[in-house]
Amino acid sequence: MAKTQPPTRARVHNGPQIDLGIEPAQRKAIAEGLAKMLADTYTLYLKTHNFHWNVTGPMFQTLHLMFEQQYNELALAVDLVAERIRALGHPAPGSYAQFSKLSSISEATGVLKAEDMICQLVEGQEALVRTARKVFVTAEKASDQVTIDLLTQRMQCMRRQRGCSEACWSKGRRAKDLSRPKQGMVRQLMQWMPMCQGLLVTRRGTGPRPCAVS
Ligand SMILES: [Fe+2]
Repeated sequence: MAKTQPPTRARVHNGPQIDLGIEPAQRKAIAEGLAKMLADTYTLYLKTHNFHWNVTGPMFQTLHLMFEQQYNELALAVDLVAERIRALGHPAPGSYAQFSKLSSISEATGVLKAEDMICQLVEGQEALVRTARKVFVTAEKASDQVTIDLLTQRMQCMRRQRGCSEACWSKGRRAKDLSRPKQGMVRQLMQWMPMCQGLLVTRRGTGPRPCAVS
């Protein structure tokens, strides 16, 4: 039976060191990926909270409550991601300056219409999944099951939030008596909400993009 080695001289002098069976370079790479995810999650949290405060219109009650559920979930998630970074032996970013540098999600500016808010949140939820997917590859190479488990939960949650946003969108669409065959959400936005067209297309300039969540 393998025995635990006694503390080395370096451990004794430098304090406890991390040895979880993951190479230091891999831990660093995973922590860096998680830092981006933390920045995305925090930015999306702030944006969702902002929309909870500022949403107006006939869908106010539904969206106000949905945004509240979503930002509460995101607030809990930032803690999980940050603590995983710390468990890997690296500092977690925790300032607006760091988050704006690391995040792939842009901040909301001005007061938006409800439809624009939903568009922006769907984009943010998809961006978060893409960021998580990149870290997933790094964590998988290192057999870091704890991070893999965290990432899987985060991706599932973002898909759920995106589904809720889409459901709210459909509800609003029915309210406007826009009866069209059911299609992908992005296509609906492209057809029925020209104001979202610019929002979703300008980033690439090549027309409707495929749904990034799968
Ligand atoms: Fe509130």
